[in-house]
Amino acid sequence: MTTPEGIAGLATRLRRAQRVTVLTGAGVSAASGVPTFRGPGGLWKDFRPEELATAAAFSRDPRLVWEWYEWRRQRVAQCAPNRAHEVLAAWSRRYPRFTLVTQNVDGLHERAGTRNVIRFHGSIWELGCWQGCGGSPARWTDDTVPFPELPPPCPGCGGWARPGVVWFGEPIDPSVLAEADRALDCDVCLVAGTSSVVYPAAGLAGEARRRGAYVAVVNPDASAGAEDADLVLAGNAEDVLDEVEAALAGA
Ligand code: OAD
Repeated sequence: MTTPEGIAGLATRLRRAQRVTVLTGAGVSAASGVPTFRGPGGLWKDFRPEELATAAAFSRDPRLVWEWYEWRRQRVAQCAPNRAHEVLAAWSRRYPRFTLVTQNVDGLHERAGTRNVIRFHGSIWELGCWQGCGGSPARWTDDTVPFPELPPPCPGCGGWARPGVVWFGEPIDPSVLAEADRALDCDVCLVAGTSSVVYPAAGLAGEARRRGAYVAVVNPDASAGAEDADLVLAGNAEDVLDEVEAALAGA
């Protein structure tokens, strides 16, 4: 349960803040109908994400991996941003220095109009050349659902295109990592909807706190990420953020 004191406490911090950084995970999109990875509905054909979201899985069976991404692309195409996305989009226009670092690849923050989004794990709406042929851009946008053939072809070399996401075992793009690192110098760092188990994303909140940020965690599972938090608001992001926004408006 969130408490009125918790909501008021976060609102007080936000009122004084200039630099606000928000770290989001799959839970923020749950109310939009996008299944989380480790919650109910997260398994596809009994595969865990760690079994499909790897380069090894793709090289073994690119069609299977693409079928999973197609399933997610079709699902997300039918979803709309929820109240959590909306509140964060409003904050992105309000605070002089706002950054949203998301592990989500669904594009819902962008669709809500959020400014300054860092896509830590890429986007399911982007593709890249599996072979890295250099004859095409490193990443290109393609929202075709479904593709006429799987894997879809790379426009540069005709070989396999891959989803433009970061897979397990792959490094985060150094420029993305550097941008996210800069955002950790902030007054308030809000962490919403992540199980905080996948690194390096899971280490960002602790680093922000070491640098002096006030860290608040929003998650119905009160234990997720709590060790790095000054405040834990145990509830759904779409409800908690709505309450925080109401508290800010009532100030
Ligand atoms: P997870 O599925 O691991 O965790 C989702 C979190 O959201 C859980 O802690 C839930 O308790 C919480 N949650 C559920 N409903 C919520 C709601 N309405 N509001 C707020 N929180 C809610 O998803 P991530 O932490 O995002 O990586 O997963 C991290 C990474 O693992 C993903 O980016 C992906 C995945 O495999 C890659 O693909 C590389």
